[in-house]
Amino acid sequence: MTAETAKEALSLEEKERAYAQIANVIDLYRRKEDSLVQILHLAQEIYGHLPLELQQFISREMNIPLSQVSGVVSFYSFFSTVPRGRHTIRVCLGTACYVRGGKKIVEYLQDKLQVELGGTTDDGSFTFEVARCIGACGLAPAFMIDDTVYKQVNVNKLDKILGQYY
Ligand code: FES
Repeated sequence: MTAETAKEALSLEEKERAYAQIANVIDLYRRKEDSLVQILHLAQEIYGHLPLELQQFISREMNIPLSQVSGVVSFYSFFSTVPRGRHTIRVCLGTACYVRGGKKIVEYLQDKLQVELGGTTDDGSFTFEVARCIGACGLAPAFMIDDTVYKQVNVNKLDKILGQYY
């Protein structure tokens, strides 16, 4: 399943509510300079991601070109145009982690979760990514789930850790 279909689609009512909230956010920030990034942040928080339709809405509401909105969305990696999982897994593949088993962790998770790198699991639980270094080189290999860093991980520990997030 692709990331686009991984998360349940919002109902029409939820969608309308989200758009109304986003319109309020835009109203609130409209007079502040350089507010586009904050607005996009809040819009992503409210809606879950930033599909083209929503970018067009923001562009119209802010009276700025769509290319400006899309440019910011594509520039920052924390913006996503497709639905993300409830949790984000980032396996470190920096040098220390790579040589101490990071690649095995990636392979194990791909197999266990049945998800490609950059993808989201069918049940919408996890988006799966890799990172370069997450600052735990001394206790490699390491990976993160959301903001929590797990160090000296091996495949035996992984199931237990993942179990906490279902
Ligand atoms: S290389 Fe993995 S934490 Fe630094």
